[in-house]
Amino acid sequence: MLAAPFLSKANYFSGADDTIKIALIGCGGRGTGAAMQALLSKQNVKLVAMADAFRDNLDRSYKRLTDPENAKNNGGVDLASRIDVPEERKFSGFDAYQKAIPLADVVILATPPGFRPIHFEEAIKQSKHVFMEKPVATDPTGVRRVLAAAETAKQKKLNVVVGLQRHYQNSYRELFKRKKLIGDITSAQAWWNNDGVWVRKRMYGQTEMEYQMRNWYYFVWLCGDHICEQHIHNMDVINWFKEGYPVKAQGMGGRQVRKGKDHGEIFDHHYVEFTYADGSVLNSQCRHIPGTMSKVDELLIGTKGKIQCGDANIVDPKGKVLFQFDTKTDNNPYQTEHDELFAAIAKGEYKFADAENGAKSTMTAILGRMATYTGQVVEWDKALASPLNLQPQTYDFNAAPPVLPNDEGYYPVSIPGVTKYGF
Ligand SMILES: NC(=O)c1ccc[n+]([C@@H]2O[C@H](COP(=O)([O-])OP(=O)(O)OC[C@H]3O[C@@H](n4cnc5c(N)ncnc54)[C@H](O)[C@@H]3O)[C@@H](O)[C@H]2O)c1
Repeated sequence: MLAAPFLSKANYFSGADDTIKIALIGCGGRGTGAAMQALLSKQNVKLVAMADAFRDNLDRSYKRLTDPENAKNNGGVDLASRIDVPEERKFSGFDAYQKAIPLADVVILATPPGFRPIHFEEAIKQSKHVFMEKPVATDPTGVRRVLAAAETAKQKKLNVVVGLQRHYQNSYRELFKRKKLIGDITSAQAWWNNDGVWVRKRMYGQTEMEYQMRNWYYFVWLCGDHICEQHIHNMDVINWFKEGYPVKAQGMGGRQVRKGKDHGEIFDHHYVEFTYADGSVLNSQCRHIPGTMSKVDELLIGTKGKIQCGDANIVDPKGKVLFQFDTKTDNNPYQTEHDELFAAIAKGEYKFADAENGAKSTMTAILGRMATYTGQVVEWDKALASPLNLQPQTYDFNAAPPVLPNDEGYYPVSIPGVTKYGF
């Protein structure tokens, strides 16, 4: 978080009253949830525009947001009164974001991460505050674009919150405050191991681009692979506590069970050894294989003890508890990130500049993926400077996406030792 120079409210609001107008770009599960959380913050927030590549997804989201049943879970708050999105402010297609962004003070970016760099760039160009989901890119070219736009956001004093919500969770914040209790951090472990996620099967009549957009998790240009899409949360915690980013990575990975036609090109497991500038090592593992051990957690080991994030405690080398956070009192970080963002905006404060860390933690995940896909030692500086750009030449439902299936409907999958990845 930044020091908070007070700025005139005139910098923040498009209207004369205190209404903060929001636009939702990417109206899926998380975007709909984030819009609800923004509307439930204590400020006078109004959803005025919605944009999605697909109109049916937008309609589903609108229905969910305006459902009177919501009030039962929202302490009686009727969200519908905070939503003003008539037909002419519902936009679909690849260019929908360009139409929605100008209408808002704050934009929520929650599409698959491949689009984040262009959407974030546009929001900052139009001087909007941003809540954007992680990851913020899927390739180094996208990371560099986000870093450049993050710099512009700082110059324009635009608040940017990234949905790496552990930064907004009290248990993590309290552990971070006490990290000196473990001395120097010499190693760390991070896990995102579980059964995996949804598959959206190919439907009759879809173009290849539409199919990949709908089944986006399985295509690296859209998703970044699961090391990037989910495991980023855990690597980001280690970066946060280390107050730095790895200088190199090496690792291994592949796909053992994720072999169907609808499984695109991503792996189902990655194990990466990240080395930081001081020589300390993060061992990171992520696996999407049903029937295996589930664990989503982080552990930091120091010269004087351990921080066990999952247990929300700090212990000395003998296991004596030095600090225990009462997890029963923990907050909902998904709500807190919006509460704090909108409170700052309402007060005219410049308080949040999460984009740079969001980009560098995304780069950490991409570095890990480059290591597992190639089987080589990959250095941060070279990886970040890599010309690797996975995005299509043209965004159009009839255009060819950057990866295509073979005659049998299967996609090429990276092979360590063979795959060369842009440097
Ligand atoms: N912080 C968290 O814990 C958390 C949890 C879930 C998802 N997420 C993140 O949120 C993002 C979205 O995930 P989701 O689960 O909501 O996926 P989703 O598939 O439910 O929603 C994505 C939506 O974006 C739309 N979309 C795709 N391309 C678009 C484009 N170019 N322009 C406009 N709309 C477009 C899709 O049609 C879809 O409606 C991902 O980056 C994901 O990692 C974060």
